[in-house]
Amino acid sequence: MKDIYTLGIESSCDETAASVIKNGRAILSNVVNTQIDIHKLYGGVVPEIASRNHIQNISEVAKMAIRNANIQFEDIDAIACTYGPGLVGALLVGLSYGKALSFALNKPLVGVNHIEGHIAANYITHQDLQPPFICVMMSGGNTQIIHVKDYTDFEVLGRTRDDAVGEAFDKVARIMGLGYPGGPKIDELGKSGEAVIELPKTHFENLDFSFSGIKTAVINLHHKNPDIDKANLCKSFEKTIAEILIENVKKAIEVTQINSIVLAGGVSANSYIRDEFLKLKNAKVYMPDLKLCTDNAAMIASAGYYNYISGKISDLTLNAEPDLKLSRK
Ligand code: KG4
Repeated sequence: MKDIYTLGIESSCDETAASVIKNGRAILSNVVNTQIDIHKLYGGVVPEIASRNHIQNISEVAKMAIRNANIQFEDIDAIACTYGPGLVGALLVGLSYGKALSFALNKPLVGVNHIEGHIAANYITHQDLQPPFICVMMSGGNTQIIHVKDYTDFEVLGRTRDDAVGEAFDKVARIMGLGYPGGPKIDELGKSGEAVIELPKTHFENLDFSFSGIKTAVINLHHKNPDIDKANLCKSFEKTIAEILIENVKKAIEVTQINSIVLAGGVSANSYIRDEFLKLKNAKVYMPDLKLCTDNAAMIASAGYYNYISGKISDLTLNAEPDLKLSRK
């Protein structure tokens, strides 16, 4: 069978990324131009600045991905672009570039949901992984438990009712003066702490989450007692977050009778949370390579491949959808 090359393009937040993937699972190139150093001056992503930087970088990043893969633009079979969810101006840069390329090269365009991309990061890391499985999506903008029925068929079993888990990490870190992005800082500091501080958990009957209560509790504790041991606070925060996530995963296993658990999204890079998931009994747990946890285009190219081979091609009227939801197809 002929090899299929997918070019992935990602620009939904503060990473301009392009990647070439062979047959959905093999990375030939993976270029990520991150704007973290620019946005950390402001304590978070500034949408307009993100869009401007994407515009400056997109063309070179895509060319580099092609060069590093040792192929020509003409060798690509499909162009996979993130079209949501994300910052609208940022999304439009990658999507417009992808549409122009699709038109110029006369190659199919495949619109990819960014969340599907995070799930697909696991197909690259674990060559044997196949649906169905339960995915715990934990990123900066989303927290969901998803029943992945097939490569392009998803059912959301539960979602956060307020903050995304990554958002809680970032806000807590900001209040503690740890800098941006907060997740990796809490991860680092938490390693030398002990989980001795009791923090609140919100329970729902279904598989929904809430992270605003724990976020506010940590912020209040820090305000009332600025000398609090920050390492202990970080570790206690991570421990409670891991418990909240794992409690819902156990419910999802019960509901679906599926015990393949897949982690996805930026927070799945957290070392404490990874270790806790590995202790889960009677379940097989998969997690992405650390470099594929946060935003990249290899995961978009992989998700694009599975859409492409199932005939889910987009046309040039495809628009950016900042609030795009994961749905059954
Ligand atoms: O998935 P992602 O790169 O972007 C979205 O698609 O939203 O996730 C970014 C989030 C940020 O909130 C960041 O603080 C968090 O992932 N993150 C972490 C770690 N690395 C990144 N959170 C906890 N521990 C980490 N090691």
